[in-house]
Amino acid sequence: MSEHCHVVTHPLVQHKLTIMREKDTSTAVFRQLLREISQLLAYEVTRDLPMTTTVIETPLTEMEAPRLAGRKLALVSILRAGNGLLDGMLDLIPSARVGFVGLYRDEETLEPVEYYFKVPQDLDRRVVIAVDPMLATGNSSAAAIERLKQAGAKDIRFLCLLAAPEGVERMRQAHPDVPVTTAAIDERLDENGYILPGLGDAGDRLYGTK
Ligand code: URA
Repeated sequence: MSEHCHVVTHPLVQHKLTIMREKDTSTAVFRQLLREISQLLAYEVTRDLPMTTTVIETPLTEMEAPRLAGRKLALVSILRAGNGLLDGMLDLIPSARVGFVGLYRDEETLEPVEYYFKVPQDLDRRVVIAVDPMLATGNSSAAAIERLKQAGAKDIRFLCLLAAPEGVERMRQAHPDVPVTTAAIDERLDENGYILPGLGDAGDRLYGTK
């Protein structure tokens, strides 16, 4: 673990991740667990949001109470598997604005190709949390972050479920200013760019497309 990459070792996260990795876990259970884990990861990735205080009245007395300060949040899902993290996070942060970046991985070059981009206009004034369950080669994630920067984002965090060391390193090189939060860093990538031991194709497992 480095300052750039934070691994969430919480027992609930690790237990849920283990069930998600198992090949016989059903689509329905996989989807539900991803939703649950996304809330726990969202809790971690927002841990250092700036706070202020406000004077409120409880039924008994007045008090100076803590509340979130300043900039609002934008969640950006990297399609399509990012959507699996989105709903759980929105349960926790319902006022967040939401953007989408559509990238597919060219199966031969493993390079990202953009097919969709729609984000809130005031990204420069928001804390932007980009989400994608799998940080594999890091090529699509780095490209998505680049597009968010082009669109004005200045304070970006990247949230994933699983990372390969190669992907973490690629992100650290390309975007040292973007901290990565993940539930685990696995061993390595295989020759097809899949994370080992991993959990397979997150999109297929989430939507039952294979
Ligand atoms: N994308 C996935 O869904 N799984 C991997 O292992 C790598 C990239």
